[in-house]
Formats: sequence, C-alpha cells, structure tokens
Amino acid sequence: MDSVAPLKLSLLLFLASISLVLVPFTQATTVKYCDKKGDYPVKVGGVKISPNPVVPGKQATFNISASTGKVIDGGKVVIEVSFLRVPVHTEKHDLSEEISCPIAVGNFVLSHTQTLPVFTPHGPYTLKMKIEDDKNQLLTCISFDFKIGSGSLEVF
Ligand SMILES: *[C@@H]1O[C@H](CO)[C@@H](O)[C@H](O)[C@H]1NC(C)=O
Repeated sequence: MDSVAPLKLSLLLFLASISLVLVPFTQATTVKYCDKKGDYPVKVGGVKISPNPVVPGKQATFNISASTGKVIDGGKVVIEVSFLRVPVHTEKHDLSEEISCPIAVGNFVLSHTQTLPVFTPHGPYTLKMKIEDDKNQLLTCISFDFKIGSGSLEVF
C-alpha cells in the first residue's frame, strides 16, 4: 500500500508535464460568451487565430465564425484586449470593415486583422469582442484567450 501512492503521484506529475509540453501546439481556442447563457441574436461557433501564437510586429488574423437569424445591415465591432486581465487596448470598427454588409441570414465569418506593436510583451492575452447593430443593439459578446510569443516554444 505504501509504495503505491508515490508511484501514482509520479505518474500524475509525468502526465502533467506532458500536457504542459503539448499545450502550445493545440490550435483549438475556446470561445466564451460574456453572458454565460449566450442568449444573443448572433451565435459564435469558434475562432481561428493565425499565426498562433500571435507574433508582435506581424499581422494577426482572428477569424470568427458565427451565424445570424436575421439580416444585419451594419453596425460596429468593439474590441478590448486584456493582458493578465488588465485592459490594455480598445478599438472600435465599422462592421463593414471586417465583413461585407449587409450580412445575410445564416453562417458568416468575421475577419479581424491587427498588427500588434513589436514591443508588445509576450504572454497570455484575452480578446473580448462585442458586435452591435446599427441601432446599437447588442448582437453578441464573446471572449477568448490568445498568446503572444515569438512562435517558438512558450509555456506562458
Ligand atoms: C480568414 O477569413 C478570410 C476571409 O474569409 C480568409 O481569406 C482567410 O483565409 C481566413 N484565414 C484563416 C486563417 O482562416
């Protein structure tokens, strides 16, 4: 009995260290709704970040796949980037800059590109995105985590 516990512990540590090594290679990004129920007119299916991790000084693309139940004539996109939970950057765009409007009923991809300054610190970031229609009605609000790094192995 006594010898089993340490063995289990070292196995756990071994598995934990493997998952730490694998994390930087996983591409799937979890998208969370700001309101946990996700009761928004626009549903978000996922986000594709390229390159991942984002490289400072190089253009990054955030492709958000979503679907809408009604035609969206236009509106705006509000983006807030946080570093270690502290908001560091906010920007507002016309919706038509990121996707051609009007958006028809069904699936669509909103493509947001931005270039982060070369001196942007490496680490874990959160991007929060709000989409409003032309009458300032909230269509959706999501957030997801992304990393800024040199593209080499980074744990943070
Ligand atoms: C993002 O979407 C744009 C426009 O639909 C497309 O041209 C581009 O290839 C996409 N990029 C990625 C990484 O999916």
